[in-house]
Amino acid sequence: MAEQKILKFPSGFLWGVSTSAYQIEGGITNDWSEWEKSELRIKNLELRNLNPRDFICGQACDSYNRYEEDLDLVKKLGCGAFRLGVEWARIEPVEGKFNQAEIEHYKEVLRAAKKRDLQVILTLWHWTNPIWLAEQGGWANRKAVDYFIRYVELIVKKLGQDVDFWITLNEPMAHLGFGYLRGNFPPARRGDLIGLIKAYKNLVKAHKLAYKKIQQIQPQSKVSFTSLTDYFEPANKYNPLDWLIVIIARYWHHRKFLNETRSYIDFIAFDYYFHQRLSWLPPFKANFNYYTNDMGWEIYPAGIYCVIKYLTSFKKPIYVMENGIADAADKKRIKFIVDHLKHIHRSISEGADVRGYLYWSLLDNFEWAHGWAPKFGLYTMDRRTFKRTPRPSVALYSEICRNNRILI
Ligand code: BGC
Repeated sequence: MAEQKILKFPSGFLWGVSTSAYQIEGGITNDWSEWEKSELRIKNLELRNLNPRDFICGQACDSYNRYEEDLDLVKKLGCGAFRLGVEWARIEPVEGKFNQAEIEHYKEVLRAAKKRDLQVILTLWHWTNPIWLAEQGGWANRKAVDYFIRYVELIVKKLGQDVDFWITLNEPMAHLGFGYLRGNFPPARRGDLIGLIKAYKNLVKAHKLAYKKIQQIQPQSKVSFTSLTDYFEPANKYNPLDWLIVIIARYWHHRKFLNETRSYIDFIAFDYYFHQRLSWLPPFKANFNYYTNDMGWEIYPAGIYCVIKYLTSFKKPIYVMENGIADAADKKRIKFIVDHLKHIHRSISEGADVRGYLYWSLLDNFEWAHGWAPKFGLYTMDRRTFKRTPRPSVALYSEICRNNRILI
């Protein structure tokens, strides 16, 4: 039998799991819940022979009521960190009117996390907007920035004492791409380039001002936003035109936003899911997709190494805020995690300052435009009873978190 090798991670390496408010809490009314019920959305699903009921978030995982149970699961995993979100629409359901009971609720949630000695990574905005903001044009409206900062100020003052890391925005570029180019996310403005540019500018501004606001109220805070960083490579590495497409894709996909905010982040927080082989010839993508997850997304662990290498140029500590696999049968998850960690380890051994890894996600949850079908969870979640059940890979991930190492 081949001998096993131990790869130890640096001491203090942060192990965790990631979630978001809308995807797990349940009972939220915001622009997403409205979009799910819209005629346009329902028609579109029916045309594809899909059942609209499988695309309604509804009670989600009922984590709003079951947060203690979820935190126990995180603790049981041996994780040191938990990433969760606060839902703007709950806190400010009506413009300018803050709901104290909801703020108290989140206070309790964060205290419960702290009681369990978990580092709290709090996301302030994960793609969803209060309805009143959506009605005013969402992020394409310049006023969204002021509204956001007012909300951020309140959250930092009320909840800041229990937060270790702040994520102002989750993957702003994904929101823009899906919401304004493809149109499969709210505000569903397919091909609205003007709206996209306006929203882009406002999101950059919102992040910078939120950064300043958080630092002003709570100096020494650690603040960033998450960046979806696909690994782009040329379909033909000898073709300069393919390289040109790669450079353009990297720039628009994540580099531009990072460049513009680089003085307003304390660490790099990136999410890694995709590998794209790009070609200058239509359809511009030449992916092989030999080995995929349940959603047909290619599994390409070496890409995380390349992305990290490239992100080291920002000279900031790096955290993998999300990395995960949709794998209902749990046949590929263990290998997926270990393979990605192997590449992260390699980057660290070559000098990259990677300080943490958070698996997406703790539980099966509402997967946005894909509805309830994809299963990213370490735990399954029964949509009727809300019962959480560990998948076999829980044992391995917990082994890794507790021992700060992988065996390969
Ligand atoms: C998002 C998550 C989502 C995950 C898997 C990430 O880009 O932040 O909300 O569930 O991808 O699709």
